[in-house]
Parts: sequence; structure tokens; C-alpha cells
Amino acid sequence: MPRWPTPSCAASTIRATTGPGSPTWKRRSASSPERWNAVPHDAAIHAWQGERSDADPRALRQALGCFATGVTVVTTVTPDGRKVGVTASSFNSVSMEPPLILWSLSSRSPNLSAFRDGSHFAVNVLAASQVDLCNRFGRPLDDKFADLEVAAGLGGSPLLPGAVAQFECACEATYPGGDHLIILGRVLRFRWSEETPLLFCQGRLGAAAPAAPALAA
Ligand SMILES: Cc1cc2nc3c(=O)[nH]c(=O)nc-3n(C[C@H](O)[C@H](O)[C@H](O)COP(=O)(O)O)c2cc1C
Repeated sequence: MPRWPTPSCAASTIRATTGPGSPTWKRRSASSPERWNAVPHDAAIHAWQGERSDADPRALRQALGCFATGVTVVTTVTPDGRKVGVTASSFNSVSMEPPLILWSLSSRSPNLSAFRDGSHFAVNVLAASQVDLCNRFGRPLDDKFADLEVAAGLGGSPLLPGAVAQFECACEATYPGGDHLIILGRVLRFRWSEETPLLFCQGRLGAAAPAAPALAA
């Protein structure tokens, strides 16, 4: 899955693997009975990617980066008391009954075992004013918690001050997910505020600005 944050990449450096102008376009659209590949091409959208094994992985990162997310710092504590935290935008809701959430962690993370083997973790949803925390927990550092006053949540997971929302979770299950580990959490306790959340979209951090009235609850 993606290297974080999504690197910017000029459209011209991405090679079309299918679609108009690509080597496979005429052959596929002529031979396929469904002619699915002959969908009219919108000039504003990049050509279809991904069918060939040598497709540019940067293109997939760019496409995935169009899905705007919030930004969280997921924390836990190791049995010997070491506080652990990583910036993660892969957080999402799964189930209301029971209350389940998920996120995914790179298998290359030096903190993989802390989350895989830990009983609890906390998801701290960052506010728009917390770009510094996003950066601090978004790279390898010896002590990410230096000079940071945190409270100990359920199971000892650190709760960061100023978070827009916090979900304290019991680790329900983990699943292999390619080069990431998918971590499913059962929400034991949560809280939130009306602060503006931090957003991550197209490789950039931003703040939520409503484009339409609130949806009905
Ligand atoms: C906005 C943003 C979102 C990120 N989302 C994730 C994510 O969902 N999963 C992940 O494994 N890494 C994600 N990362 C990268 C990790 O935060 C980064 O690799 C960090 O070094 C992980 O901490 P560690 O090296 O202490 O394990 C993200 C980074 C940023 C800046």
C-alpha cells in the first residue's frame, strides 16, 4: 500500500497502460464483447491504470489520494511501558453494533509488534491546528512523546491533548493485508469536540470546509 504521505507526481510522468492512445486500446475495445474499455474518455481524468503488472505504483497512490480522509495518531503502550504512536489516515468506521473501527499499519513499521500484540489502542483524531503532531508521529523518531503531556487511557494507551475525537479500543482482531496489517478495534469509550478536523487529500493537509449543509443524522 501507499508510502506516506502520497508523493506528488506530475501527470505527464504516468504512462497510460490502457485507454485512448495506449498500445492495448484498439485491440481490447474491438475484441471485448462488453466493450467496457470503450467508455468515453474524459479529458480531465487520467487514463485507466493497473491492468499491467508493471503499472506505475505512483499512479495508484495518486488515485487513492483523491479519497479525502481525516488524520489520526494511533497510540498504544508496550508491556515494558514504552509509549508508541503513529500517524494514520487509514482509520475508518466498520460497525455500529458492535462498535468496531479499523486502521492499517505498514508491516515495515518498527512498532508493528506493539500494535499486533497489544490488548488496547487509542485513536486520536487530529484537529486542523495539529499539523505538528501529524508530522511528529508521521516519521520514525526515537521519542515521539518527548515534551508532550499525555493522559493514560484504557490499557495505558496515550491520549493526546487537543484531539477532535478519541476512540479507546480493545484490539479485536488483526488481518494480513498485503504489505500492511489491518487492525480491527472494538470501541470501549469515545469522546469528541466541535473543533475543525485536520484533513488529508491529494498528498496535502488541510482543514474541513463545508461544501453543503449538514446531512441528517
Ligand atoms: C497524513 C499521513 C497519513 C499516514 N497514514 C498511515 C497509515 O494509515 N498507515 C501507516 O502504516 N502509515 C501511515 N503513515 C506513515 C506513518 O505515520 C509513518 O511511516 C511513521 O513513520 C510510522 O511510525 P513508525 O515509523 O514509528 O512506525 C501516514 C503518514 C502521514 C503523514
